[in-house]
Amino acid sequence: MIAAHGICKAFDGVQAVDDLSFEVASGEVYGLLGPNGAGKTTTLRVLATLLTPDRGSATVAGHDVVREGEAVRRSIGVVNGGMGLYDRLTGREVLHYFGRLYGMQPAAIDARIAQLDELLELGDTLGRRAGGYSSGMKQKIVVARAVLHDPPVIFFDEATSGLDVVARRAVLDFVRSYPSEGRAVVYSTHVMSEVEELCDRACIIYRGRKIAEGSIAELIAEGHGDDLEDAFFRLVGGDRGARDEIAGVEA
Ligand SMILES: Nc1ncnc2c1ncn2[C@@H]1O[C@H](COP(=O)(O)OP(=O)(O)OP(=O)(O)O)[C@@H](O)[C@H]1O
Ligand SMILES: [Mg+2]
Repeated sequence: MIAAHGICKAFDGVQAVDDLSFEVASGEVYGLLGPNGAGKTTTLRVLATLLTPDRGSATVAGHDVVREGEAVRRSIGVVNGGMGLYDRLTGREVLHYFGRLYGMQPAAIDARIAQLDELLELGDTLGRRAGGYSSGMKQKIVVARAVLHDPPVIFFDEATSGLDVVARRAVLDFVRSYPSEGRAVVYSTHVMSEVEELCDRACIIYRGRKIAEGSIAELIAEGHGDDLEDAFFRLVGGDRGARDEIAGVEA
């Protein structure tokens, strides 16, 4: 579903992503695990056609991210923490607005909203204006909006930050249930337990580079760790900086 080959991206002399390659198969949840500044968001932005790579190439759902941006954008849904909603629209109105942009008919949008209501427990967010949402309500509508058109590929970037346990559980269960034949998820996070729970395989990214890749069991074995966190610290070479970054964000 996704193939990235030698992706490089620098900003003002900072090598955010450095020769990164990975593949994601149909039916997989693939994790991008790394501390703050590792290059996770930059990688997803390249795959989502929001940034052009300096070097390297990638295809998403069979389309080249540089030459076939339009086709890639039709094949993906993107969930990240910072997306604005229109304050004066209700959740249902937001979803209708985006459904129309995706070229869906109103009846199809309503049918899909009913499905997503079931899956994500949207409840009264649908009838309330987005301006009054809590962060959990916002995030659920952002997830619903991203998958409204049933895209084959979804990118989640720190999708559960700021959510309470109930909202977080709804989003995690949704992510886990999404992949099937012809569908895949890339899930970016610094939270080890989410990777352990959700991901079929994951890539550990540090300073823009791939440090290790595999199933959770393979990552633990490769790092000779007791668990994923232990393996992670061993794999980044006992690096104090990475240790502090992860300890800091997880605290
Ligand atoms: N638009 C930008 N302009 C300048 N530097 C950037 C930009 N975007 C990212 N960077 C830099 O690239 C590096 C990787 O950032 P990126 O946001 O991809 O990391 P991340 O793994 O998503 O981190 P976090 O867990 O904090 O979200 C960092 O050093 C960051 O400062
Ligand atoms: Mg990020």
